[in-house]
This record gives sequence, C-alpha cells and structure tokens, in this order.
Amino acid sequence: MRSMSLLAAVCLTALLTSCARQDTGPRQPVAFSHEIHAGQYKIDCQYCHSGARRGPNAYVPSMQTCMGCHQLVAATKPEIIKVRQLWEAKKPIVWTRMNKLSDFVFFNHQPHISKGVACVTCHGDLTKMPEVKPPFTVNNMTWCVDCHRENKASIDCYVCHR
Ligand code: HEC
Ligand code: HEC
Ligand code: HEC
Ligand code: HEC
Ligand code: HEC
Repeated sequence: MRSMSLLAAVCLTALLTSCARQDTGPRQPVAFSHEIHAGQYKIDCQYCHSGARRGPNAYVPSMQTCMGCHQLVAATKPEIIKVRQLWEAKKPIVWTRMNKLSDFVFFNHQPHISKGVACVTCHGDLTKMPEVKPPFTVNNMTWCVDCHRENKASIDCYVCHR
C-alpha cells in the first residue's frame, strides 16, 4: 500500500513539474565563461566543483574561490568589479541553476566520478561554452536507465526514487 501511494505522489509531482521544464537558461548575473576558465586557462573542473567526487552535489564555487584569483587577475574589468563589489558587501552571486532533477529523483555525482564517467558525458563540452548550455535536459529517466543498463549499474527503482 505504502509503495503504491508513493508512486501516485511521484506521478502527480511529475505532472505538476513537467510544464515548468526549461532547456536553456537566462543570462547569469555575472558573465562567467567556462570557455575562458576551463578552456583557455585549463583550470580543472574539480578545482571549482570539488563536491563532485565527494557526494551528491558538485556545487558552484564560493566568492572566496573567485577572489583568490581576481583580487589581482583582470581586477579592473567591469565584470570583475561587479564581483568585488558583491564580495565586499558580503553578498553572494545568485547563479541561475541549469541542470535540475525533479525533487523525487535522487542523484549522486560521487559514484559516477569514481567509476570514471566524465563530466562531458552528461554536461557536454563546457570548455567551448562561453555560457552554460546543457546539451539536453538531464531530467530524463530513459537517459539514466539506458546508461545504467549498458554499464551494469543498478536499475532498481529505489536507487533513484527513495
Ligand atoms: C573557475 C571556476 C570554474 C571552473 C574551472 C569550472 N566551472 Fe563549472 N561553473 C562555475 C560557475 C561559477 C558556475 C555557475 C555559473 C554558470 O552557470 O555559468 C558553473 C556552472 C557549471 C555547470 C552548470 C550548473 C547548473 O546550473 O546546472 C556545470 C554543468 C559545470 N559548471 C560544469 C563544469 C565542468 C564540466 C567544468 C570543466 C570542464 C567546469 N564546470 C569548470 C565555475 C567553474
Ligand atoms: C552521470 C551524469 C553526470 C556526470 C558524469 C556529471 N554530472 Fe553534474 N549533474 C548531473 C545531474 C543529473 C545534475 C542535476 C542534479 C540534481 O538536480 O540533483 C548535475 C548537476 C551539476 C551541477 C549543478 C550544481 C550541483 O551542486 O550539483 C554542477 C556544477 C555539475 N553537475 C558539475 C559537474 C562536474 C564538474 C562533473 C565532472 C567532475 C559532473 N557534473 C559530472 C549529471 C552528471
Ligand atoms: C584559478 C584562477 C581563477 C579563478 C578561481 C576564477 N577566475 Fe575568472 N578568470 C581567470 C583568468 C586567468 C581570466 C582571464 C583574464 C583575462 O583575460 O584578462 C578570468 C576571467 C574572468 C572574467 C572575464 C573578465 C573580462 O571581462 O575579461 C570573469 C567575469 C570572471 N573571470 C569571473 C570569475 C568568477 C565569478 C569566478 C568565481 C566563480 C572566477 N572568475 C574564478 C582566472 C580565475
Ligand atoms: C553515462 C552513464 C550514466 C548516466 C547517464 C547516469 N548514470 Fe547513474 N551510474 C552510472 C554508473 C557507471 C554508476 C556506478 C555503478 C557502480 O558503482 O557500480 C552509476 C550509479 C548511480 C547511482 C548510485 C547507485 C548505487 O547503487 O548506489 C545513482 C543514485 C545514480 N547512478 C543515479 C543516476 C540518475 C538519477 C541518472 C540520470 C539523471 C543517472 N544516474 C545517469 C552511469 C550513469
Ligand atoms: C537511474 C535512475 C532511475 C531509475 C533506476 C528509475 N527512475 Fe524513474 N525517473 C528517473 C528520472 C530522472 C525521472 C524523470 C523525472 C521527471 O520526468 O520529472 C524519472 C521519472 C519517473 C516517474 C515519473 C513519470 C515520468 O516518466 O515522467 C515515475 C512514475 C518513475 N520514474 C517510476 C520509476 C519506477 C517504477 C522505476 C523502477 C522500475 C524507476 N522509476 C527507476 C530516474 C530513474
């Protein structure tokens, strides 16, 4: 009985959220470019997203991380002045999230990274993107399950719905 009502809740949530789905995001408050940082300057993805090898969230880096370089680097450029002003006012940069699963789906970066699944497989080649554009919506059960099947990873419902 309990699992039936859980499944019903899952279906309802899916109905409610599917209308709000978006594949492309609006512009960010600061013109941060992966093409410059990860492409041109080859800064490692996990220098900024160190959460990915540790647990569910990759996380976006703190202002502290930005200022570690930008106290000096490009300090007089308008976009950096914007960052410094926020930092001095102790305000965070509020980034718009691009990749988002429905609340009833559980995802964890860590097992994927430790099995050697590359960021590019799921997020596309960020080193060529001045602005993050997900290659497709990650909120897609067929995509997850197909890859799990190919890699002999678990496809039990409770792995992703708990
Ligand atoms: C210098 C720090 C830095 C580096 C290096 C970096 N990122 Fe990011 N990343 C950010 C910031 C800041 C954001 C949030 C702003 C944005 O979306 O552009 C972000 C956003 C993202 C997002 C979108 C998150 C969302 O909203 O869903 C993905 C995916 C991502 N990064 C993957 C990567 C990958 C893969 C690499 C390596 C090729 C990488 N990043 C290298 C700082 C960095
Ligand atoms: C197996 C596919 C997959 C791989 C591999 C993967 N990601 Fe993700 N990533 C996702 C999904 C799915 C989400 C959305 C998760 C959610 O909404 O709970 C996401 C979300 C993110 C976000 C948004 C913020 C957050 O805290 O999670 C960032 C940043 C990110 N990924 C960076 C990376 C980086 C960097 C790598 C490589 C080190 C990487 N991802 C590898 C699937 C993947
Ligand atoms: C490891 C060092 C490093 C870190 C960390 C870093 N950056 Fe950068 N950033 C650079 C370099 C190098 C450039 C290129 C500067 C140039 O071309 O003059 C750059 C360029 C930029 C530019 C473009 C400036 C312009 O108008 O030309 C922006 C905006 C920017 N970074 C924002 C950020 C933000 C926001 C963060 C934190 C999420 C961050 N950076 C973290 C090294 C870094
Ligand atoms: C490109 C291939 C690929 C894609 C796409 C993918 N996964 Fe995975 N997933 C794996 C592999 C490989 C593992 C590790 C299995 C292992 O450790 O034996 C894994 C493990 C997991 C685990 C941990 C399983 C456990 O037994 O603890 C969860 C949770 C998970 N994936 C959720 C998802 C979700 C949700 C999505 C879609 C949003 C997704 N995955 C997309 C390949 C993928
Ligand atoms: C590897 C991860 C994964 C596994 C395993 C998985 N799901 Fe899903 N499931 C997802 C993702 C991602 C979504 C997409 C969420 C959305 O569409 O809003 C989803 C969506 C759903 C939905 C919402 C309806 C829909 O299709 O949009 C239902 C119901 C569902 N799953 C049931 C199940 C059942 C039952 C099983 C076991 C047979 C299962 N799932 C196994 C990841 C998974």
